Amino acid sequence: MSDTMKEYIAEAEKDLLHTYNRYQIVLDKGDGVYLYDIGGKKYLDFVAGIAVFALGYQNKAYNDALKAQIDKVIHTSNYYYNVPAIEAARKIKKVSGMDRVFFTNSGAEAVEGAIKAARKYAYLKDGCTDHEIIAMNHSFHGRTMGALSVTGNPKYREAFQPMIGHIKFADLNNFQSVLDQVTDKTCAIIMETVQGEGGLYPATEEFLNQVRDLCDERDILLILDEIQCGMGRTGYMYAWQRFGVKPDIMTSAKALGCGVPVGAFMMTEKVAQHSLTAGDHGTTYGGNPLACAAVEKVLDLFEEDHIIEHVREVAPYLEQRLNELAEKYDCIQERRGVGLMQGLVFDHPVGDIINRALEKGLILINAGADIIRFVPPLVITRENVDEMIAILDTCIE
Ligand SMILES: Cc1ncc(COP(=O)(O)O)c(C=O)c1O
Repeated sequence: MSDTMKEYIAEAEKDLLHTYNRYQIVLDKGDGVYLYDIGGKKYLDFVAGIAVFALGYQNKAYNDALKAQIDKVIHTSNYYYNVPAIEAARKIKKVSGMDRVFFTNSGAEAVEGAIKAARKYAYLKDGCTDHEIIAMNHSFHGRTMGALSVTGNPKYREAFQPMIGHIKFADLNNFQSVLDQVTDKTCAIIMETVQGEGGLYPATEEFLNQVRDLCDERDILLILDEIQCGMGRTGYMYAWQRFGVKPDIMTSAKALGCGVPVGAFMMTEKVAQHSLTAGDHGTTYGGNPLACAAVEKVLDLFEEDHIIEHVREVAPYLEQRLNELAEKYDCIQERRGVGLMQGLVFDHPVGDIINRALEKGLILINAGADIIRFVPPLVITRENVDEMIAILDTCIE
């Protein structure tokens, strides 16, 4: 490692709050599916900023749209209308099939908004303030207090108790475990359509349908968190569209802005008419012109560049090549995931493999201690998959 890189890392460790055990590289720029550190070393990126940079780095149309918006106006306030927010809302409604959108600054904030909307919906029905939400074990919804409260990983929650109240946990794909938690007070069931952080577990079609039917019978709101698995990653704009099980409220973020911090929670008209109203929720930055110019352009480019069709074409090849690795090595127990959201499950911690890959110019990330997660830019080619597999193979060996 160069002296300059060492100095930067030492400074970062002195100045930044140590909430991440960072990999020992300082990144400088990106181009397509490659990143470069400040020493000029090139890395094939199979992380994309954790499922964010779907279109690849230095996408000219995207960069130009942002630059043009910067030269007009970056921020106004939600007390005034702005054209990028109106256009972004129209476009995200079209691809999601939802009726109303609220733009946030992050994924966690989108989850917060979804929880508030669900609680308000229930409150307007009976005036009570003791409604319950059922969330899933092993889920991940973010680090703010509300999002953390529905995150099914006790390790993340423990030191920050008490959480927001009346949250219960069930098991993904185990409908009986959901039934066991339902009461007259249940106002919402929240889950990721495909669990990311928790180990690349997709919700099954049967489970989603069972939960949807239960929600319809008892006027419970189904909240699907599509922050990681949405935006084309599974070969559908939103992962729930694979089975057509539509939520009442859904969240989106990460690839929604392709790097500009923006998220959204969306809902059906029915929920919108009976939940949040003026004064109930707000944000200074959320939905500002720059963020919404990013959303607008990302959604345009998804259509123009046929991103979803591309994912459907390249994802089976990634699956096939990962399956080959899983067959070759006894230490790999399983490949699982959907589309370009895949995991290789090892019988031991994967930290060493990821560090070795980094040395060899490949950026990977884990999901839990024993799983390597693959969430590359959606524009990767078969050649990029081959390049990744070749490096990973030598690292496992
Ligand atoms: C499914 C899911 N929900 C919510 C979040 C939180 O998003 P953010 O980090 O933008 O707050 C994440 C982040 O990894 C996520 O994967």
